[in-house]
Amino acid sequence: MAVMNGPIRKAVFPAAGLGTRFLPATKAQPKEMLVLVDKPIIQYGVEEAVQSGVDNIVIVTGRGKNAIEDHFDVAVELESYLEQRGQTVQLEAIRKITQLINVSYVRQGEPLGLGHAVLVTKNLIGNEPFAVILGDDVIDADPPALKQMIDVYERVQGPVLAVERVPEEDVSSYGVVAIDASESLGRGVYRITDLVEKPRREDAPSNLAIIGRYILTPDIFGALEATAKDGRGEIQLTDGLRRLLRDRPLYAYEIEGVRHDTGNKLGFLKAVVYFALRRPDLGEPFRRYLESLDLKVGVGH
Ligand code: UTP
Repeated sequence: MAVMNGPIRKAVFPAAGLGTRFLPATKAQPKEMLVLVDKPIIQYGVEEAVQSGVDNIVIVTGRGKNAIEDHFDVAVELESYLEQRGQTVQLEAIRKITQLINVSYVRQGEPLGLGHAVLVTKNLIGNEPFAVILGDDVIDADPPALKQMIDVYERVQGPVLAVERVPEEDVSSYGVVAIDASESLGRGVYRITDLVEKPRREDAPSNLAIIGRYILTPDIFGALEATAKDGRGEIQLTDGLRRLLRDRPLYAYEIEGVRHDTGNKLGFLKAVVYFALRRPDLGEPFRRYLESLDLKVGVGH
């Protein structure tokens, strides 16, 4: 039977948010299906999980998210169409990911916050540690970001939150951790002494912001059940973690890699350019195009 401190076998992808920052694009299509070059954002995270040895994928969905389920389902008609025409490269591209994962879905009903989204996976996760991946944060890293976190988890044997140093003016957009800097736990690993959700700049205990990767233990579910809703009626994961900190140590880890926050428009645009430039088939002509642009056009108008 799976145990509280066993291996990480499951990754939860909360995807029930409304994606209001991308309206009107997200009116009839989930933001997780917005495309970076030719792959939906959520697939980058799923591939990271698989490359980190985690192939049981739990996606938390809500209304209007059917495209995500269709994307990871077998597309019989499309496959036979491509097969008949000998389009093997395209066939392989759509088959590969569905063959590599075992995917389950759970509905959140109402988007009552990230903590609540994690809580609705309680029965699917059971009594074992698990990962949470926020697909918005697309991380280019080698080894993959989740693999780095699993390695830390195996050493510290406790929940691990990915953190990143952000400019001080940005702390109020994140959960922020306070750490015990005197304890030496290895490169980029810290014991957390406190957490606070979206602090004002002057109240922030550090500039170490929590980003979209977590390794959690199943006692987070009890902590979330005991966590009060915030002013907007949502259960925040950071608040649940703060409660859990009363009972056990939590750890922060600074991932080595490049993170793109594709949940906001500027971050999304940067990610498109970043990944396009790294594509063997597109990188060179795309770079030439970018170099040919008059970058002053439109500025200030
Ligand atoms: P965000 O804070 O980015 O919210 O959620 P959002 O609704 O997706 O986007 P905006 O701010 O309206 O543009 C962070 C992550 O938590 C999930 C989201 O799907 C996203 O992956 N989430 C958030 C849920 O699954 N349920 C919730 O109730 C809230």
